[in-house]
Amino acid sequence: MKQSLFTMEHARQLTEDTYELVLSGDTSAITAPGQFVNIQLPGKFLRRPISICNWTDSALLLLVRVVGEGTKDLVRSVPGEELDVLSGLGNGFDLSLSGEHPILLGGGIGIAPLYGLAKRMVDAGVSPTVALGFRTWKEAFYLEEFAALGCRLLVATEDGSLGIRGFVTDLAANVPECDYAFVCGPTPMLKAVHNLSQLTGGQFSFEARMGCGFGACMGCTVPTRDGYKRVCKDGPILCKEEIVWQD
Ligand SMILES: Cc1cc2nc3c(=O)[nH]c(=O)nc-3n(C[C@H](O)[C@H](O)[C@H](O)COP(=O)(O)OP(=O)(O)OC[C@H]3O[C@@H](n4cnc5c(N)ncnc54)[C@H](O)[C@@H]3O)c2cc1C
Ligand code: FES
Repeated sequence: MKQSLFTMEHARQLTEDTYELVLSGDTSAITAPGQFVNIQLPGKFLRRPISICNWTDSALLLLVRVVGEGTKDLVRSVPGEELDVLSGLGNGFDLSLSGEHPILLGGGIGIAPLYGLAKRMVDAGVSPTVALGFRTWKEAFYLEEFAALGCRLLVATEDGSLGIRGFVTDLAANVPECDYAFVCGPTPMLKAVHNLSQLTGGQFSFEARMGCGFGACMGCTVPTRDGYKRVCKDGPILCKEEIVWQD
């Protein structure tokens, strides 16, 4: 983990409430896709955790959905503005476990960490299937970016306005040869994917309301088959076998 100042380079609006942000700074603490950053915003006591969508040696790419005051302030940051960022948090995805036919399943803003993952898989010579789900075509984003990586791209919308009508689980069912999943999205989606019988394994990215974001406050613990784990430090990625769902 590293605390440092990042500079806002630019923000691009992708949908009504979703933005792509590019920040420059020291990314040396980032070791794996699926890790996150925790951003201090002026006037906010708690930092805001945001997944790393992609990174280079000196730049950070984030996708942010505006849900409250903190994310609204974040996407309104102007070029040149400096942000206090804790980088390289969490465990990240383990690419070595992906098998021959990995599928990346993302819902809504949960597609963010899957982009950097897909890019690194393609760079490593693995060709993932990417299945993305949205409520409607107006909320869809980053399809061209995923397609440009050379992945097999499948899309579902709940209202059928883009791709097939349905959910990412329906997309996965159409590619039964894909038996190992990397998953990020809302909890009902994670649960539904976890129930897919075709999966022999998988890695699931969890969200939790966070305090410190680096393992010190125990504010983000969830039960697992191996005891309680901190989503911020032991996660946010949990393996299929260790997940215990809470009602
Ligand atoms: C590991 C991790 C990775 C994340 N990655 C991204 C990302 O890549 N892009 C992105 O846009 N968002 C991401 N989030 C969610 C993001 O942290 C919250 O949306 C943000 O903190 C809300 O701050 P706010 O001040 O705008 O909203 P607040 O005013 O704090 O809350 C507004 C609404 O957002 C909900 N909310 C707040 N925090 C969370 C949270 N941690 N998880 C789910 N819902 C929350 C609240 O319940 C409330 O309904 C991630 C969260 C975690 C834990
Ligand atoms: S947020 Fe403090 S331990 Fe996870």
